[in-house]
Amino acid sequence: MKYLVTGGAGFIGANLVEYLVNANEQVVVVDDLSMGQYQNIAALVGDKLRFYKHSITDDAFMTELLLAEKFDYIILLGAIASVADSIARPMQTHQVNLEANLHILETIRKNQLPLKKLLFASSAAVYGNQGELPKKETSPIDPLSPYAIDKFASERYVINYGKLYGLKTVAVRFFNVYGPKQNPASPYSGVLSIINDCLLNNKKFTMYGDGQQTRDFVYVKDVVIALMLLLNEPTALHDVYNIATGTPTTLTENIMAFEKVWHKKLVVQHEPSRAGDIQYSYANIAKLKALGFTPQYDIQEGLFEYIQQTK
Ligand code: UD1
Repeated sequence: MKYLVTGGAGFIGANLVEYLVNANEQVVVVDDLSMGQYQNIAALVGDKLRFYKHSITDDAFMTELLLAEKFDYIILLGAIASVADSIARPMQTHQVNLEANLHILETIRKNQLPLKKLLFASSAAVYGNQGELPKKETSPIDPLSPYAIDKFASERYVINYGKLYGLKTVAVRFFNVYGPKQNPASPYSGVLSIINDCLLNNKKFTMYGDGQQTRDFVYVKDVVIALMLLLNEPTALHDVYNIATGTPTTLTENIMAFEKVWHKKLVVQHEPSRAGDIQYSYANIAKLKALGFTPQYDIQEGLFEYIQQTK
């Protein structure tokens, strides 16, 4: 099978690409390396993996690629994955986070490209600060930033292109994904990769808030399994699925788990909560579980494997 992965050099994309190449699939990655890192996929580039350093906003390039390749599966992970950047540059991030995806959908529709399925990566950010917990796919949405607005709109375009024009599509909402290939140097990195980097390099960790905030941290290998399940499951169509574990843990619990595996203490500096930070978040994953998904890694197992790979 032939796969297109936009954002395939990024954190989640590169983990998916590694899985696909190891499963002997043909993969094409388009990534402008603005957030992704070539080193994430460098060792895989060859017969099975072709890499194009291009922005997904390059409509002419994307059209040519889609017409020439006739992909079986398209996974849209390419994005400016930064809420802060979307607030600073709403027009530019909109072009990447929405318009580029819409252009891909239009190219498929207008040219009636045969496609087994297209999957779009949305975010738990669409739920915003609505209080209901755990977050179900039917929970109220409240996209607070241009990033969340574009993720929600793209998600709806993808789902409704399915319903309106018969494309086979599905969307997912990622919760807090962690694991190898996330760039800890990025200011937009998830908190677990920042903690790991602080322990690895003996740096001070800044804790915003009291440490009792919860998140639903899901290991990237479980995310890859969920993505493959959704691509291959015929009933997962024109719909959106949370990807998480369904179990919340506090920041303090995670710091303790890290310290146990690292056999050292994290040096913590306390600061007030960040503006806009939410205190509690976790997902209901019953919908994904009904398709047969069970997370293979609990937080202890995930952190252990992650740390072993970075040591
Ligand atoms: C994540 C997204 C964010 C999005 C939000 C909405 C990432 C990196 N962030 O934020 O863009 O708006 O989901 O669903 O994916 N923390 C510290 N010290 C740090 C970094 C973080 O104490 O150096 C704290 C944060 O204040 C927060 C918790 O750790 O309370 C988790 O932070 P983060 O990993 O950024 O995830 P979200 O807040 O869930």
